[in-house]
Amino acid sequence: MYSRTLRLEVLLDLQGEIASSGDDLFFIVLHQTHELWFKSLLYELERARDHIAAGALDPAAHELRRVRAIERLLTEQLLSMLTLTVDGFAALRPYLGTSSAFQSAQFREIEFLSGLKDSRYLNVKWFSTAERRRLQRRYDEPSLRDSFDGLLARKGVADLFDAIKCDPDGELRSLVEGLVAHDEGLREWRVRHMEMARRLIGDSSGTGGTSGLPYLRSRQGSAVFPDLRAILDRL
Ligand code: HEM
Repeated sequence: MYSRTLRLEVLLDLQGEIASSGDDLFFIVLHQTHELWFKSLLYELERARDHIAAGALDPAAHELRRVRAIERLLTEQLLSMLTLTVDGFAALRPYLGTSSAFQSAQFREIEFLSGLKDSRYLNVKWFSTAERRRLQRRYDEPSLRDSFDGLLARKGVADLFDAIKCDPDGELRSLVEGLVAHDEGLREWRVRHMEMARRLIGDSSGTGGTSGLPYLRSRQGSAVFPDLRAILDRL
């Protein structure tokens, strides 16, 4: 049965109100759906990492295509924030307290698993014990980047540009394109998120305790595979 398979009774009971404004349900759904897709991203990224480690490049490229598709829809989803007015969001803000998606453990897990490991995010106070444990594991385990570098080392690739050009079935190129597309997916999300946040909070600081826009701006350059992007540009 549809509702039982999807556990809808539980799922649709998870949107308790945070305020009595007309925006609270939208705000909760926007964040909860992000977290669900983050879960799905972690699953695909983990599989892609493991497939690369096992030398199975086709399945990894397939998983990375799904990663890109999910990132595209998350970026698109952020446009719905345009329906929040500045006044409407200001009315909601007091109810958010110090809570911000800045404290999303899954988002940090995505960064860590990809290869962006910043130890400053490890033992921060807002993470629960379980979240901290998960983050530490992601921090300690090999990332997607490690797995790709390991593949090149095992194959004895000294020059990736040449290796891609000489690869008869194009497997390596598809993989590299998938990795670069993941970087682009996160970059596009960061740009769109910053634009949306700027409209709603202007110069004020974030509910998560950062400087707000200056902080978000400082995160824009984050990339896991800038060297691979440069190689693709030369091909
Ligand atoms: C509703 C309007 C939103 C505003 C005004 C906003 C604003 C901000 C601000 C100012 C920050 C900096 C940290 C801080 O809070 O001090 C931040 C971080 C962040 N926000 Fe949002 N945000 C919004 C919606 C969302 C949504 C829907 C998501 C999806 C989960 C999201 C995900 C994140 C993430 C992951 C970070 C950390 C980014 C990083 O560290 O690079 N935000 N946001």
